[in-house]
Amino acid sequence: MKVFVTGGAGYIGSICVEELLNADHQVTVFDNLSEGHRVAVDERAQFIEGCLSDRETILNAVAADQPEAVMHFAAFAQVGESMTDPSKYFRNNVANGINLLDAAVEAGVKKFIFSSTAATYGMPDTVPITEQEPQKPINPYGESKLMFETLLKWYHELHGLEFVAFRYFNAAGCSEKLGEERTVETHLIPNVLRVALGQAKQCRIFGTDYPTPDGTCIRDYIHIIDLAQAHILALKPGKCGFYNLGNGEGYSVREVIETCRQVSGNPIPAIEEARRDGDPARLIAGSQKAIDELGWKPRYATLEQIVDSAWRWHSAHPNGYSG
Ligand code: UFG
Repeated sequence: MKVFVTGGAGYIGSICVEELLNADHQVTVFDNLSEGHRVAVDERAQFIEGCLSDRETILNAVAADQPEAVMHFAAFAQVGESMTDPSKYFRNNVANGINLLDAAVEAGVKKFIFSSTAATYGMPDTVPITEQEPQKPINPYGESKLMFETLLKWYHELHGLEFVAFRYFNAAGCSEKLGEERTVETHLIPNVLRVALGQAKQCRIFGTDYPTPDGTCIRDYIHIIDLAQAHILALKPGKCGFYNLGNGEGYSVREVIETCRQVSGNPIPAIEEARRDGDPARLIAGSQKAIDELGWKPRYATLEQIVDSAWRWHSAHPNGYSG
């Protein structure tokens, strides 16, 4: 299929583009390079540098490209920043996204695939979290993604736009060629691996008094290639709705650090610090819906596989894409 991908120069978008091309789809990437990297865009893809805030540009780009599907990864995604600058999140993740939705409708796009997040659930009452769990975001980032989910429902109802919105749990890992590099890195695995590379003295454990077996937060890590595969399955006509993407297995912060030690062979010193604001104790996905309805089969479901792929990329690219 012909697929138009926003945010295709970012971490998740670039690896989805690579997987789309490996599956013989045709891809146009639209990215403003505010967080993404031009070198992360697969050479087989067409590249347009542009910003979703520029309504004419995006309307024209989609109209000219005539894609059958749009995958929308472009967004700001730092929970902490969203608490201090909510306007940035609502403008980019919601208002600018409306320009893209309108462009898709005007161009007669058949399928819209959206990167949503487990952050739309807030502090869930039960785990594993199914798609029926009430969505009560606790930060503007999660709220902005939930608002866009609501827009999708209305565009589906009123314009017939078929959509799949994936609520990602903790996307992690790398492909052979493409990895994770952000201006400000807040995520656990890349920060821990920086210590293994000798780029930081110690990693930090945020909170050791959570109601979990070892006192640290539990998360459900999903390999980026498995996540990309779900997007490809969602292209099939008739697939429409909201889907969690995770492995249904939780790992604590201490377990992640221990796995990084084993995989890298480095002792990785860790210091214990106070809780980080807004971290739920435990987030584990119920992803049976994606398995049953999309035929999704995660191939790299263990934490070792996920960390190993990240370690291979980070050790081959110690300076990220600038190296
Ligand atoms: N953590 C540390 N030390 C660090 C970094 C993180 O202890 O240096 C802890 C966090 O406090 C948290 C866990 O590791 O308990 C995972 O933190 P991440 O920052 O890697 O990921 P989050 O779970 O906070 O958030 C990620 C995405 C969100 C998404 C969420 C859904 O960044 O966009 O997963 O599960 F909403």
